[in-house]
Parts: sequence; structure tokens; C-alpha cells
Amino acid sequence: MITPQSIEQIKNRIDIIDVVGEYVKLKKRGANYLGLCPFHNEKTPSFTVSPAKELYKCFGCGKSGNTITFLMEHEKLSYVESLKWLAARYSIEIEETESTPEQKQLQQSADSLYIINNFAAKFFEEKLFESEEGQAVALSYLKERVFRESIIKKFQLGYNPSAKDELAKALVQNQFNKELLPKTGLVVIRNETDLADNYRNRIIFPIHNNTGKIIGFGARVIGKADKAPKYINTPENEIYVKSKVLYGSYFARLAIDKADECLLVEGYTDVVSLHQAGIENVVASGGTSLTVDQIRIIKKYTDNLTIIYDGDAAGVKAALRGLDMALEEGLNVRLVLIPDKEDPDSYVNKLGAQAFQDFIAANKKDFILFQLEVMMKESGNDVTKKSVVVNQVAETLSKINKAEDFSKQQEYIKQCAVLLKIDEGGLTNLVNKYKRDKISKEEKKLPFEEADHIRLQNQQADSSADNLLLLNQDEAHERNVLRVLLEYGLKNWDAERTVAQYIFDEMEQFHFDSQPLEHLFNEYRSWYEKGLEPTAKSFLYHEDEHIRNLVVSITMFPFELSQKWDEVLEGMNIVNRDVSQQDVLMSVSYFKLRKIKKMFEENQRDMEFAPIEQQMKLIAVHNQLKEIERELTKQLGTVILR
Ligand code: GTP
Ligand code: MN
Repeated sequence: MITPQSIEQIKNRIDIIDVVGEYVKLKKRGANYLGLCPFHNEKTPSFTVSPAKELYKCFGCGKSGNTITFLMEHEKLSYVESLKWLAARYSIEIEETESTPEQKQLQQSADSLYIINNFAAKFFEEKLFESEEGQAVALSYLKERVFRESIIKKFQLGYNPSAKDELAKALVQNQFNKELLPKTGLVVIRNETDLADNYRNRIIFPIHNNTGKIIGFGARVIGKADKAPKYINTPENEIYVKSKVLYGSYFARLAIDKADECLLVEGYTDVVSLHQAGIENVVASGGTSLTVDQIRIIKKYTDNLTIIYDGDAAGVKAALRGLDMALEEGLNVRLVLIPDKEDPDSYVNKLGAQAFQDFIAANKKDFILFQLEVMMKESGNDVTKKSVVVNQVAETLSKINKAEDFSKQQEYIKQCAVLLKIDEGGLTNLVNKYKRDKISKEEKKLPFEEADHIRLQNQQADSSADNLLLLNQDEAHERNVLRVLLEYGLKNWDAERTVAQYIFDEMEQFHFDSQPLEHLFNEYRSWYEKGLEPTAKSFLYHEDEHIRNLVVSITMFPFELSQKWDEVLEGMNIVNRDVSQQDVLMSVSYFKLRKIKKMFEENQRDMEFAPIEQQMKLIAVHNQLKEIERELTKQLGTVILR
């Protein structure tokens, strides 16, 4: 975990205009900045950034948040990655707590691996372009394959010379940790101590992670691969985990976002060639079937996956594997088969960019229907085989199980039933059966607490959906108290107390009905009591995502109630006057009034059913509540009328 001190340091340095401005062209408009929203397509700017509040909000699509959420949404970084990104940008050294010595060593070794890879990539690039051997053997080969220099440089392609240990020597000379070197796969140990280059006489394809760091390499023989394997890849290590890598994802991410579609090919050269042809929303799987982690990388950017594979049987089979998983993750999968003996690299070079794109557009097939066609062709008129097909289709369709995908599933059932010439209702039943089977299997696997935990998480996620219109009045009042707490808590209320202390005192006998709000209130209080100076801004960097989201929606969204305030206060001509006292008083009073009214109603209900001997007590409560209500109303009246 990153220490609070480090987070504090980062927070103090953040300039939202600087960070957002990196991705969005911003123009100053009054106190705010305005630009075209990066989260949806628009022609007139409605994306607003407030440097004072350190928040952004798009009035077109409703996306809002702070610098961290911007990096999380736009760059698809995790919370911690975003903090690290900012730390790197502002050259802040971050401290992390709770890392055991083992974790520390792991981290250090990971850092070193990046550094070694980076050094090696530079070395390879230099050899490709500067050395005579590289030019004669490797650059000429790449040029023969019509790769232009600009694209070679963009992907940082390189060359590992044919001598035994040119790279190994350079690495040792630069004093890299000799024990770590073999882990990178760049060198191997010969005769127990000697280091030798592993990728001798090969073209090097550096593999970048999503933030552009080099995590590994693919090394291709030059020309035909007769004896040696065509490619050698980095062995798995701390930073290179094959199942989590999609080649090209770093260069493709913005284009995928923009096109709302990800193209998937098999090879390194396919990615590079398509980029050269101007098709940039493309990544490669490395010839194996997709893993869940890879699917999730894609899911961060788009729901639409188009697989472009060779038309040969092996290609189709490889593509078909992994389909169910993609469906489970909610991807819409389409398939384009390119003619036998071609791959995307050769085919785009043959057709040219435009014709290739036209071909893709014209030959996109829905994956599920395609799979059904293939299976039906295979089964012919055989009744038993057909029933296997029906079951398989039903099982596949049952994988579309996200709530939001329900209508998609219905549509598929309809289409497949027609193709199979079977009854739609029957197919629906079969699909549901597979769904039930799966659920009961999973429930058996899940221990109690975990199931509980998941349920709780879902509830929390629901309640943080910040649609104020759906909020009831109770919650609106509760939010309003938290808003003034976050906004003015540290100001002085009277000679002895801060606003926060005043609110704590006033809240003593009340509680929040909304659990997340109660949680935020307690969290505020505990920060305050620890002397941490809580503010809306500092909570925006809270490690708990729910709290961050809640704070954004509380401080950012128009509060229906405070609009009422505005009208009242406007009449008082208070343009430059500090209205925080009124705001606090009104928020707290309305909150209490609301609670009192509820207690009142409850009390009245109780009175109806209570036995006679308890009636007296309830009437006393009734009168007391009435009195408080009168007080509050009076107080509010003076605030308003003064
Ligand atoms: P070119 O033939 O140069 O166009 O390369 P390619 O990327 O098109 O290669 P191919 O279609 O043969 O293979 C697709 C992908 O599978 C490659 O990009 C590699 O990631 C992987 N691959 C191919 N051959 C090998 C191999 O011999 N070993 C390993 N580990 N991976 C391979
Ligand atoms: Mn190829």
C-alpha cells in the first residue's frame, strides 16, 4: 500500500488541468476549462474541468470525477497505478507500507527487469539501424517485407547481432545484476558462468504493457525457419506473464476506444503491418487461444471484438476456443476469415489498406451464428448429431449471462431456433437449464461468507449509482449534511467550535438511514479526530472506491435542496457574503426536521396500536417531538427571513 504521506504529497502536486490537458484540448471559460469530451463523441464541447474543485464533468454524457478517476477511466489504470503514474509525472518518490522483505525484493527485481529490458531494446534498435551487420541482414529483410522505417521505429523493432555475446557483454559492462539477467531471457548461461546471447541473429519485437513499458520480447529468425524455432519469446517472469499480455495493446488502446472495436490477429507482424496501413485498433494473441485476462484487457476499452484469423482449419479451431469465455465476459464477438495461405500481414500488403478494410467490413460474421453454421454443416442430417448441436448451442447461449445482455440473448435464441428449425420456447428452456446448472455448481463451490460478501458488494455498487433523481428526500437531506461537512467542516462555527464539531454535536442523537452515507460520516469523523483535516479533496483520494464515488456525487451534483437555498439566499443580495453558516444551519435543520417528522409518524402509528397504559408515554413523546419541530421551524424561519 502507498503511504498516506505519499498520497498527500501526490495530491498536493496534482494539477487537473495539466493531466486532463494531456488528453483533451482545453480552453479557459471563466473559472473553468472546456473541451471536447474524451468519453463520448461530440462536436460542441461540454466537457468541463474545474481547477478549483479538481473535478471534471461532462454535461453531454454525465461522466464526472477527479484526476485519479480520469486516469482510471481514460487510461484504464487501477487506482494504485494512477497514483504511481502521477508520482512519476511529478517526480515524487512514493513510499509503500506493509511490504514484506520478500515483496520488496520482488518489486526491486521487477524494477530491474524493466530497466534491463529498456536497455536491451535500445541496444537492439541501435544495432538494427547503425551497425553494418544489422543494416545488411535485418533492416534489409524488414524492408523486403515492406515495413517502413517510421513503423519500425514506432514499434521499436531491433536486431540482435549474430556474434556469441554482443548484448551479454554490453549488459555486463553496464553492471546489471548478473543473477537477474537470465530471467529476462535475453541471455543464457553457458559453461556455468559465461553469458551468451539468446536471440542471436534475430529480429526483435519488444512487447509493451499497457503503460508502454517493455516487459518482454519476441525474437524472429531472419528468413525461413528451418532448424530453429521461428520465434523465441521471453520466459515468464515477474513482469512478463504471457496470459496477461496482448501484443500491441499499448499502441492500440486509443484507437480501440475510438473505434469501439478491437481487432484480434495472431502474429506480431500482423499488428505492425495493419498499423502501417492505418488500422491501429489491433492486438495479437500470439497464436494461442484467448485467456480471461486478455479478454479483460479488451473489455476495458470496448465490448466489440473482431477476430481476424486464417481460413485454415487450425486457425478456425484456435479462434473457436475462448469464445465461451468471451461471451461470459459480455463481449460481442465477430469473426473474419481471410483466404487460405494468407495472414492479415500478407493480405493487407496484397490488397492495400482500403480494400483490406472493405474486406473486413464485408466479411464480418457473428461468431455464435458462424459456430452454429460450422456445426450444422458437420452434422448434416444425422438426428443424434443434431441434438448434440442443439445442446451445444444452448450451452454457449447460456454463457451470455450478464443482466444487461438479456435482450441480446433473446435475439440469439430467436435466430438460432430459426436456423436449427426448432421451437424457440424449447430452446429458451434448454438455455435456462444450462444457466441453472451453472449457478448451482458455483454455489456449491462458494463458502458462506464469500457469498455474503459478494451480495454486499453488489448492494453497495447499487447504492452508489449516483442518480439523484432517484434519491428519496431522506437521502437528499442526508447527503446535504455531508456536503456541508465536506465543504465547510474545517471553518469556524463559533468561538469554540469548528463547523465539523457543531455538526457532530447536532448529529449526536441521529443516524443516517443510508449505510454508505453513515460510513462516510464516520470516516470523516475518524479522520477529523485523528487531526487529518478531512476535506472533499482529500476524500477524493480515499483508497475505498465507494467513498471516492460518493464524495464526487455529493460535491459535484446539483443538490436539489441547495437550489432552494439559492433562491432564498439570492433575495438577500449576498453575492460576496459568506453563506456557509446559513448553508450549514439549514442543512442540519432540514435533516433533523425530516428525521423528527419520521419519528413523529412512527410514534403516531404506535399510538394507534399501543395498549392504554402506554398511551400516556407516547403522548409525551408526541408533544416533545412537536416542540422540537416548532423550534427547528422557527430557527429555519429566522435563517430564511433574516
Ligand atoms: P511472420 O511469419 O514473420 O509473418 O510472423 P507471424 O507473426 O505471422 O507468425 P505466425 O503467423 O507463424 O505465428 C503467429 C504468432 O505465433 C507469432 O507472432 C508468435 O507470437 C507465435 N509463434 C509463431 N511461431 C512460434 C514459435 O516457433 N515459437 C513460439 N513460442 N511462438 C511462435
Ligand atoms: Mn505472418
